[in-house]
Amino acid sequence: NLPFPVNGKGHLEIGGMDTIELAEKYGTPLYVYDVSIVRENCRAFIDTFKQLGVEAQVAYASKAFSSIAILQVIKQEGLSIDVVSEGELYTALKAGFPPEKIHLHGNNKSMEELTLAIENNIGCIVIDNFYEIELLSQLLEEQKKQIDVLIRVTPGIQSKTHQYIMTGNEDSKFGFNLANGQAEKAFAQLRNHEWIRFKGLHCHIGSQIFETDRFTTAVEILFSELTKWHQKFDYTPEVLNFGGGFGIRYTEDDRPLPLNIYVEELVRSIRSHINELDFPMPEIWIEPGRSIVGNAGITLYTVGSTKEIPGVRNYIAVDGGMTDNLRPALYQAKYHGIIANKADKPNDTEVSVAGKCCESGDMLIWDLATPKVDNGDILAVFSTGAYGYSMANNYNRFSRAAVVFVENGQDKLVIKRETYEDIVRNDISYE
Ligand code: LLP
Repeated sequence: NLPFPVNGKGHLEIGGMDTIELAEKYGTPLYVYDVSIVRENCRAFIDTFKQLGVEAQVAYASKAFSSIAILQVIKQEGLSIDVVSEGELYTALKAGFPPEKIHLHGNNKSMEELTLAIENNIGCIVIDNFYEIELLSQLLEEQKKQIDVLIRVTPGIQSKTHQYIMTGNEDSKFGFNLANGQAEKAFAQLRNHEWIRFKGLHCHIGSQIFETDRFTTAVEILFSELTKWHQKFDYTPEVLNFGGGFGIRYTEDDRPLPLNIYVEELVRSIRSHINELDFPMPEIWIEPGRSIVGNAGITLYTVGSTKEIPGVRNYIAVDGGMTDNLRPALYQAKYHGIIANKADKPNDTEVSVAGKCCESGDMLIWDLATPKVDNGDILAVFSTGAYGYSMANNYNRFSRAAVVFVENGQDKLVIKRETYEDIVRNDISYE
Protein backbone atom coordinates (compact mmCIF):
# COMPACT_ATOMS: atom_id res chain seq x y z
CA ASN A 1 0.00 0.00 0.00
CA LEU A 2 2.50 2.58 -1.24
CA PRO A 3 1.28 6.04 -2.19
CA PHE A 4 3.37 5.91 -5.40
CA PRO A 5 4.00 3.19 -8.01
CA VAL A 6 7.06 0.97 -8.52
CA ASN A 7 8.51 0.55 -12.01
CA GLY A 8 9.96 -2.49 -13.80
CA LYS A 9 13.41 -1.86 -12.29
CA GLY A 10 11.95 -2.09 -8.81
CA HIS A 11 12.38 1.65 -8.36
CA LEU A 12 9.84 3.95 -6.74
CA GLU A 13 8.29 6.42 -9.17
CA ILE A 14 6.75 9.82 -8.57
CA GLY A 15 4.79 11.69 -11.22
CA GLY A 16 5.98 9.17 -13.83
CA MET A 17 9.65 9.74 -12.95
CA ASP A 18 12.14 7.24 -11.55
CA THR A 19 13.17 8.49 -8.08
CA ILE A 20 16.64 6.93 -8.44
CA GLU A 21 17.26 8.90 -11.62
CA LEU A 22 16.04 12.07 -9.90
CA ALA A 23 18.42 11.42 -7.00
CA GLU A 24 21.30 10.95 -9.46
CA LYS A 25 20.42 14.04 -11.44
CA TYR A 26 19.86 16.48 -8.57
CA GLY A 27 21.71 14.89 -5.64
CA THR A 28 20.26 14.22 -2.19
CA PRO A 29 18.67 15.15 0.11
CA LEU A 30 16.04 16.17 -2.38
CA TYR A 31 12.43 17.21 -1.98
CA VAL A 32 10.30 16.04 -4.91
CA TYR A 33 6.70 17.17 -5.46
CA ASP A 34 4.17 15.53 -7.73
CA VAL A 35 2.42 18.73 -8.84
CA SER A 36 -0.63 16.84 -10.10
CA ILE A 37 -1.39 15.82 -6.50
CA VAL A 38 -1.20 19.46 -5.38
CA ARG A 39 -3.68 20.33 -8.12
CA GLU A 40 -5.99 17.45 -7.16
CA ASN A 41 -6.02 18.60 -3.54
CA CYS A 42 -6.77 22.19 -4.56
CA ARG A 43 -9.61 21.03 -6.79
CA ALA A 44 -11.08 18.77 -4.12
CA PHE A 45 -11.69 21.82 -1.92
CA ILE A 46 -12.72 24.24 -4.67
CA ASP A 47 -15.04 21.79 -6.46
CA THR A 48 -16.80 20.74 -3.27
CA PHE A 49 -17.70 24.34 -2.44
CA LYS A 50 -18.89 24.80 -6.03
CA GLN A 51 -21.02 21.66 -5.91
CA LEU A 52 -22.58 22.83 -2.68
CA GLY A 53 -23.31 26.21 -4.22
CA VAL A 54 -21.46 28.09 -1.50
CA GLU A 55 -19.52 31.33 -2.04
CA ALA A 56 -16.08 30.46 -0.75
CA GLN A 57 -12.42 31.26 -0.67
CA VAL A 58 -9.92 28.46 -0.23
CA ALA A 59 -6.75 30.18 0.97
CA TYR A 60 -3.65 28.01 0.84
CA ALA A 61 -1.74 28.40 4.14
CA SER A 62 1.61 29.13 2.59
CA LYS A 63 3.53 28.47 5.81
CA ALA A 64 3.23 24.78 4.83
CA PHE A 65 5.49 25.41 1.83
CA SER A 66 6.16 28.81 0.36
CA SER A 67 8.18 29.33 -2.80
CA ILE A 68 7.56 31.16 -6.02
CA ALA A 69 6.88 27.97 -7.99
CA ILE A 70 4.37 26.45 -5.57
CA LEU A 71 2.52 29.74 -5.24
CA GLN A 72 2.27 29.93 -9.02
CA VAL A 73 0.60 26.50 -9.04
CA ILE A 74 -1.77 27.62 -6.28
CA LYS A 75 -2.55 30.78 -8.25
CA GLN A 76 -3.23 28.71 -11.41
CA GLU A 77 -5.71 26.62 -9.43
CA GLY A 78 -7.62 29.75 -8.45
CA LEU A 79 -7.03 29.58 -4.70
CA SER A 80 -6.39 32.50 -2.38
CA ILE A 81 -3.43 32.46 -0.06
CA ASP A 82 -2.75 33.02 3.60
CA VAL A 83 0.57 34.58 4.58
CA VAL A 84 1.83 35.07 8.13
CA SER A 85 4.88 37.24 7.67
CA GLU A 86 6.51 39.86 5.52
CA GLY A 87 8.64 37.13 3.93
CA GLU A 88 5.63 35.05 2.95
CA LEU A 89 3.83 38.16 1.71
CA TYR A 90 6.88 39.19 -0.30
CA THR A 91 7.09 35.70 -1.84
CA ALA A 92 3.40 35.80 -2.78
CA LEU A 93 3.80 39.18 -4.45
CA LYS A 94 6.94 37.96 -6.26
CA ALA A 95 4.98 34.93 -7.49
CA GLY A 96 2.52 37.33 -9.08
CA PHE A 97 -0.29 36.41 -6.71
CA PRO A 98 -3.26 38.78 -7.12
CA PRO A 99 -3.06 41.00 -3.98
CA GLU A 100 -6.82 40.88 -3.47
CA LYS A 101 -6.50 37.13 -2.89
CA ILE A 102 -3.86 37.47 -0.18
CA HIS A 103 -4.84 37.29 3.50
CA LEU A 104 -2.38 38.38 6.17
CA HIS A 105 -2.15 36.60 9.51
CA GLY A 106 0.17 36.88 12.48
CA ASN A 107 -0.01 37.35 16.23
CA ASN A 108 2.55 40.16 16.24
CA LYS A 109 2.37 41.92 12.92
CA SER A 110 4.98 44.61 12.54
CA MET A 111 4.53 48.10 11.12
CA GLU A 112 6.55 46.95 8.09
CA GLU A 113 4.27 43.95 7.50
CA LEU A 114 1.11 46.00 7.82
CA THR A 115 2.55 48.74 5.61
CA LEU A 116 3.52 46.28 2.85
CA ALA A 117 0.02 44.78 3.08
CA ILE A 118 -1.73 48.16 2.87
CA GLU A 119 0.51 49.50 0.10
CA ASN A 120 -0.29 46.44 -2.00
CA ASN A 121 -4.03 46.56 -1.23
CA ILE A 122 -4.18 42.95 -0.10
CA GLY A 123 -7.58 41.31 0.24
CA CYS A 124 -7.81 40.86 3.97
CA ILE A 125 -5.98 41.29 7.25
CA VAL A 126 -6.89 38.87 9.99
CA ILE A 127 -6.58 40.96 13.15
CA ASP A 128 -5.22 39.07 16.10
CA ASN A 129 -5.09 41.52 19.03
CA PHE A 130 -5.89 45.01 20.35
CA TYR A 131 -2.41 46.40 19.69
CA GLU A 132 -2.83 45.49 16.04
CA ILE A 133 -6.11 47.42 15.87
CA GLU A 134 -4.20 50.50 17.06
CA LEU A 135 -1.34 50.04 14.58
CA LEU A 136 -3.63 49.34 11.67
CA SER A 137 -5.97 52.27 12.44
CA GLN A 138 -2.99 54.60 12.64
CA LEU A 139 -1.48 53.42 9.32
CA LEU A 140 -4.81 53.50 7.47
CA GLU A 141 -5.63 56.94 8.82
CA GLU A 142 -2.22 58.22 7.64
CA GLN A 143 -2.69 56.74 4.20
CA LYS A 144 -6.41 57.48 4.00
CA LYS A 145 -7.07 53.91 2.93
CA GLN A 146 -9.61 51.26 3.84
CA ILE A 147 -9.02 47.54 4.18
CA ASP A 148 -11.14 44.43 4.80
CA VAL A 149 -10.51 42.57 8.02
CA LEU A 150 -11.61 39.53 9.95
CA ILE A 151 -10.88 39.12 13.62
CA ARG A 152 -9.32 35.92 14.81
CA VAL A 153 -11.17 34.45 17.74
CA THR A 154 -10.13 31.67 20.06
CA PRO A 155 -13.04 29.33 20.53
CA GLY A 156 -11.52 27.36 23.41
CA ILE A 157 -11.49 23.92 21.83
CA GLN A 158 -8.92 21.33 22.78
CA SER A 159 -8.13 19.49 19.57
CA LYS A 160 -6.60 16.03 19.77
CA THR A 161 -3.20 16.85 18.39
CA HIS A 162 0.30 17.65 19.60
CA GLN A 163 0.25 20.57 22.03
CA TYR A 164 2.62 22.68 19.91
CA ILE A 165 0.26 22.61 16.94
CA MET A 166 -2.87 23.05 19.03
CA THR A 167 -3.92 26.65 18.42
CA GLY A 168 -7.63 26.98 19.18
CA ASN A 169 -7.61 26.32 22.92
CA GLU A 170 -8.35 29.10 25.37
CA ASP A 171 -4.84 29.50 26.78
CA SER A 172 -3.38 30.37 23.39
CA LYS A 173 -1.19 33.20 22.17
CA PHE A 174 -3.47 33.60 19.16
CA GLY A 175 -6.58 35.69 18.75
CA PHE A 176 -9.30 37.29 20.87
CA ASN A 177 -10.85 34.95 23.41
CA LEU A 178 -14.57 34.47 23.14
CA ALA A 179 -15.20 33.31 26.67
CA ASN A 180 -14.01 36.51 28.42
CA GLY A 181 -15.60 39.05 26.07
CA GLN A 182 -12.40 40.13 24.28
CA ALA A 183 -13.82 39.24 20.89
CA GLU A 184 -16.94 41.29 21.44
CA LYS A 185 -14.85 44.24 22.62
CA ALA A 186 -12.76 44.04 19.43
CA PHE A 187 -15.92 43.80 17.34
CA ALA A 188 -17.33 46.89 19.08
CA GLN A 189 -14.16 48.83 18.21
CA LEU A 190 -14.30 47.77 14.57
CA ARG A 191 -17.91 47.62 13.50
CA ASN A 192 -18.26 51.29 12.67
CA HIS A 193 -14.60 52.03 12.03
CA GLU A 194 -13.76 54.70 9.48
CA TRP A 195 -10.92 52.80 7.78
CA ILE A 196 -11.37 49.19 8.77
CA ARG A 197 -14.11 47.24 7.02
CA PHE A 198 -15.16 44.50 9.40
CA LYS A 199 -16.12 41.40 7.39
CA GLY A 200 -16.43 38.66 9.96
CA LEU A 201 -14.72 36.08 12.12
CA HIS A 202 -11.82 33.72 11.77
CA CYS A 203 -10.90 30.74 13.89
CA HIS A 204 -8.36 27.96 13.50
CA ILE A 205 -8.72 25.07 15.89
CA GLY A 206 -5.44 23.27 15.26
CA SER A 207 -3.61 21.07 12.82
CA GLN A 208 -3.57 17.47 11.62
CA ILE A 209 -7.17 16.94 12.73
CA PHE A 210 -9.09 13.86 11.53
CA GLU A 211 -12.50 14.37 13.10
CA THR A 212 -15.11 16.65 11.57
CA ASP A 213 -16.73 17.17 14.97
CA ARG A 214 -13.89 19.53 15.96
CA PHE A 215 -14.90 21.79 13.12
CA THR A 216 -18.62 21.54 13.77
CA THR A 217 -17.98 22.36 17.43
CA ALA A 218 -16.13 25.48 16.28
CA VAL A 219 -19.12 26.37 14.11
CA GLU A 220 -21.43 25.98 17.10
CA ILE A 221 -19.27 28.14 19.34
CA LEU A 222 -18.96 30.89 16.73
CA PHE A 223 -22.70 30.91 16.14
CA SER A 224 -23.47 31.12 19.83
CA GLU A 225 -21.33 34.30 19.91
CA LEU A 226 -22.90 35.58 16.68
CA THR A 227 -26.36 35.07 18.12
CA LYS A 228 -25.44 37.49 20.93
CA TRP A 229 -24.04 40.02 18.49
CA HIS A 230 -27.15 39.72 16.39
CA GLN A 231 -29.40 40.40 19.36
CA LYS A 232 -27.30 43.32 20.59
CA PHE A 233 -26.18 44.93 17.37
CA ASP A 234 -28.40 43.41 14.68
CA TYR A 235 -25.20 42.09 13.11
CA THR A 236 -24.76 39.21 10.66
CA PRO A 237 -21.32 38.26 9.30
CA GLU A 238 -20.33 38.49 5.64
CA VAL A 239 -17.46 36.04 6.01
CA LEU A 240 -16.67 33.14 8.31
CA ASN A 241 -13.22 31.60 8.10
CA PHE A 242 -12.65 28.23 9.76
CA GLY A 243 -8.90 28.02 9.19
CA GLY A 244 -7.05 24.88 8.19
CA GLY A 245 -5.98 21.76 10.00
CA PHE A 246 -7.38 18.96 7.82
CA GLY A 247 -5.26 15.90 8.57
CA ILE A 248 -3.22 13.82 6.14
CA ARG A 249 -1.70 10.34 6.16
CA TYR A 250 1.89 10.12 7.35
CA THR A 251 1.78 6.48 8.43
CA GLU A 252 -0.84 3.77 8.16
CA ASP A 253 -2.05 4.68 11.66
CA ASP A 254 -3.39 7.96 10.27
CA ARG A 255 -6.93 7.81 8.95
CA PRO A 256 -7.68 11.09 7.19
CA LEU A 257 -11.08 11.70 5.64
CA PRO A 258 -11.40 12.58 1.96
CA LEU A 259 -11.04 16.38 1.72
CA ASN A 260 -14.58 16.91 0.41
CA ILE A 261 -16.01 15.41 3.62
CA TYR A 262 -14.49 18.15 5.81
CA VAL A 263 -16.01 20.79 3.55
CA GLU A 264 -19.38 19.08 3.33
CA GLU A 265 -19.66 18.68 7.09
CA LEU A 266 -18.56 22.25 7.70
CA VAL A 267 -21.11 23.61 5.25
CA ARG A 268 -23.86 21.35 6.55
CA SER A 269 -23.26 22.56 10.08
CA ILE A 270 -23.10 26.24 9.05
CA ARG A 271 -26.28 25.92 6.99
CA SER A 272 -28.19 24.41 9.88
CA HIS A 273 -27.27 27.37 12.12
CA ILE A 274 -28.02 29.87 9.37
CA ASN A 275 -31.45 28.38 8.83
CA GLU A 276 -32.22 28.31 12.51
CA LEU A 277 -31.24 31.95 13.03
CA ASP A 278 -32.53 33.14 9.69
CA PHE A 279 -29.16 34.69 8.83
CA PRO A 280 -28.06 35.24 5.22
CA MET A 281 -25.46 32.65 4.17
CA PRO A 282 -21.98 34.18 4.66
CA GLU A 283 -19.01 33.46 2.44
CA ILE A 284 -17.09 30.50 3.85
CA TRP A 285 -13.31 30.66 3.86
CA ILE A 286 -10.86 27.93 4.81
CA GLU A 287 -7.08 27.84 5.00
CA PRO A 288 -5.68 24.38 4.28
CA GLY A 289 -1.89 24.08 4.20
CA ARG A 290 -0.79 20.54 4.97
CA SER A 291 -3.70 18.94 3.11
CA ILE A 292 -2.76 20.77 -0.11
CA VAL A 293 0.96 19.98 -0.27
CA GLY A 294 1.71 17.35 2.37
CA ASN A 295 1.07 14.12 0.49
CA ALA A 296 2.37 15.59 -2.80
CA GLY A 297 5.96 15.69 -1.53
CA ILE A 298 8.57 13.08 -0.73
CA THR A 299 12.18 13.43 0.38
CA LEU A 300 14.97 11.35 -1.13
CA TYR A 301 18.10 10.62 0.91
CA THR A 302 21.23 8.58 0.32
CA VAL A 303 22.08 6.00 2.96
CA GLY A 304 25.62 6.33 4.29
CA SER A 305 26.85 4.66 7.45
CA THR A 306 25.04 1.89 9.24
CA LYS A 307 25.41 0.67 12.79
CA GLU A 308 24.28 -2.64 14.18
CA ILE A 309 23.69 -3.11 17.89
CA PRO A 310 23.04 -6.86 18.03
CA GLY A 311 19.78 -7.71 19.70
CA VAL A 312 18.90 -4.03 20.03
CA ARG A 313 18.65 -2.09 16.79
CA ASN A 314 20.06 -1.43 13.35
CA TYR A 315 20.71 2.20 12.59
CA ILE A 316 21.05 3.53 9.07
CA ALA A 317 22.19 7.11 8.66
CA VAL A 318 21.09 9.35 5.80
CA ASP A 319 22.54 12.55 4.39
CA GLY A 320 19.79 14.80 5.81
CA GLY A 321 17.62 14.79 8.92
CA MET A 322 16.30 17.47 11.24
CA THR A 323 17.68 20.18 8.96
CA ASP A 324 15.31 19.21 6.14
CA ASN A 325 12.56 17.70 8.33
CA LEU A 326 12.34 19.11 11.81
CA ARG A 327 9.01 17.50 12.60
CA PRO A 328 10.19 14.19 14.13
CA ALA A 329 12.59 16.03 16.46
CA LEU A 330 10.11 18.80 17.31
CA TYR A 331 6.82 16.88 17.56
CA GLN A 332 7.85 13.21 17.62
CA ALA A 333 6.10 13.13 14.25
CA LYS A 334 5.99 9.72 12.56
CA TYR A 335 6.81 9.08 8.92
CA HIS A 336 6.80 6.15 6.56
CA GLY A 337 9.54 5.46 4.05
CA ILE A 338 10.97 2.83 1.73
CA ILE A 339 14.26 1.97 0.12
CA ALA A 340 13.41 3.45 -3.25
CA ASN A 341 15.87 1.35 -5.28
CA LYS A 342 14.62 -1.88 -3.66
CA ALA A 343 10.91 -1.10 -3.76
CA ASP A 344 10.08 -4.58 -5.11
CA LYS A 345 12.05 -6.47 -2.44
CA PRO A 346 10.40 -8.02 0.61
CA ASN A 347 10.86 -6.23 3.92
CA ASP A 348 12.76 -8.84 5.90
CA THR A 349 14.55 -6.61 8.33
CA GLU A 350 13.97 -3.48 10.42
CA VAL A 351 16.04 -0.32 10.63
CA SER A 352 15.90 3.03 12.41
CA VAL A 353 16.74 6.01 10.26
CA ALA A 354 19.16 8.53 11.76
CA GLY A 355 19.83 12.00 10.48
CA LYS A 356 23.29 13.46 10.17
CA CYS A 357 23.12 16.23 12.76
CA CYS A 358 25.17 16.22 15.91
CA GLU A 359 22.12 15.57 18.04
CA SER A 360 20.78 12.27 19.41
CA GLY A 361 17.23 13.45 18.79
CA ASP A 362 17.94 13.67 15.08
CA MET A 363 16.08 10.48 14.15
CA LEU A 364 13.73 10.50 11.18
CA ILE A 365 12.01 7.12 11.54
CA TRP A 366 12.16 4.44 14.23
CA ASP A 367 11.69 0.75 13.43
CA LEU A 368 11.00 0.83 9.73
CA ALA A 369 10.53 -2.49 7.96
CA THR A 370 12.87 -2.67 4.93
CA PRO A 371 14.85 -5.11 2.80
CA LYS A 372 18.55 -5.38 3.74
CA VAL A 373 19.96 -1.85 3.47
CA ASP A 374 23.36 -1.06 1.92
CA ASN A 375 25.36 2.16 1.70
CA GLY A 376 24.36 4.08 -1.37
CA ASP A 377 20.72 2.98 -1.23
CA ILE A 378 18.14 5.71 -1.67
CA LEU A 379 15.59 6.18 1.09
CA ALA A 380 12.30 7.85 0.15
CA VAL A 381 10.28 9.37 2.99
CA PHE A 382 6.61 10.03 2.20
CA SER A 383 4.32 12.96 3.01
CA THR A 384 7.10 15.49 3.54
CA GLY A 385 5.51 18.16 1.35
CA ALA A 386 4.20 20.29 4.23
CA TYR A 387 6.37 21.90 6.90
CA GLY A 388 9.47 20.20 5.52
CA TYR A 389 11.23 22.73 3.33
CA SER A 390 9.41 25.55 5.13
CA MET A 391 10.89 24.55 8.49
CA ALA A 392 14.30 23.59 7.07
CA ASN A 393 17.26 25.14 8.80
CA ASN A 394 21.03 25.37 8.65
CA TYR A 395 21.89 23.62 11.92
CA ASN A 396 25.47 22.31 11.77
CA ARG A 397 25.76 24.57 8.74
CA PHE A 398 24.06 22.09 6.46
CA SER A 399 22.81 23.66 3.27
CA ARG A 400 19.09 23.55 2.54
CA ALA A 401 18.15 20.81 0.08
CA ALA A 402 16.89 21.41 -3.45
CA VAL A 403 13.25 21.12 -4.52
CA VAL A 404 12.16 19.51 -7.78
CA PHE A 405 8.64 19.50 -9.26
CA VAL A 406 7.49 16.62 -11.45
CA GLU A 407 4.40 16.68 -13.61
CA ASN A 408 3.43 15.00 -16.90
CA GLY A 409 6.68 13.02 -17.01
CA GLN A 410 8.83 16.18 -16.73
CA ASP A 411 11.08 17.26 -13.89
CA LYS A 412 11.98 20.82 -13.04
CA LEU A 413 14.26 22.29 -10.40
CA VAL A 414 12.25 24.96 -8.55
CA ILE A 415 14.52 25.71 -5.58
CA LYS A 416 18.27 25.37 -5.91
CA ARG A 417 20.32 23.54 -3.33
CA GLU A 418 22.06 26.05 -1.07
CA THR A 419 25.79 26.33 -1.53
CA TYR A 420 28.38 26.84 1.18
CA GLU A 421 28.85 30.30 -0.28
CA ASP A 422 25.16 30.88 0.61
CA ILE A 423 25.83 29.61 4.11
CA VAL A 424 28.56 32.20 4.80
CA ARG A 425 26.91 34.96 2.75
CA ASN A 426 25.94 37.08 5.76
CA ASP A 427 29.01 36.33 7.84
CA ILE A 428 31.35 39.28 8.38
CA SER A 429 35.02 38.78 9.03
CA TYR A 430 36.39 39.85 12.42
CA GLU A 431 40.10 40.00 11.64
N1 LLP B 1 -4.58 28.82 9.34
C1 LLP B 1 -4.01 29.19 10.49
C2 LLP B 1 -4.46 30.40 11.16
C3 LLP B 1 -2.99 28.41 11.04
O1 LLP B 1 -2.44 28.78 12.18
C4 LLP B 1 -2.55 27.25 10.37
C5 LLP B 1 -1.47 26.45 10.90
C6 LLP B 1 -3.17 26.92 9.15
C7 LLP B 1 -4.19 27.73 8.67
C8 LLP B 1 -2.79 25.72 8.33
O2 LLP B 1 -2.94 24.53 9.03
P1 LLP B 1 -2.78 23.14 8.23
O3 LLP B 1 -3.92 23.03 7.27
O4 LLP B 1 -1.48 23.18 7.52
O5 LLP B 1 -2.80 22.13 9.31
N2 LLP B 1 4.55 23.37 11.81
C9 LLP B 1 3.46 22.52 12.26
C10 LLP B 1 2.14 23.05 11.93
C11 LLP B 1 1.90 24.40 12.54
C12 LLP B 1 0.68 24.95 11.96
C13 LLP B 1 0.34 26.28 12.52
N3 LLP B 1 -0.80 26.84 11.93
C14 LLP B 1 3.66 21.12 11.70
O6 LLP B 1 4.72 20.87 11.12
O7 LLP B 1 2.82 20.26 11.89
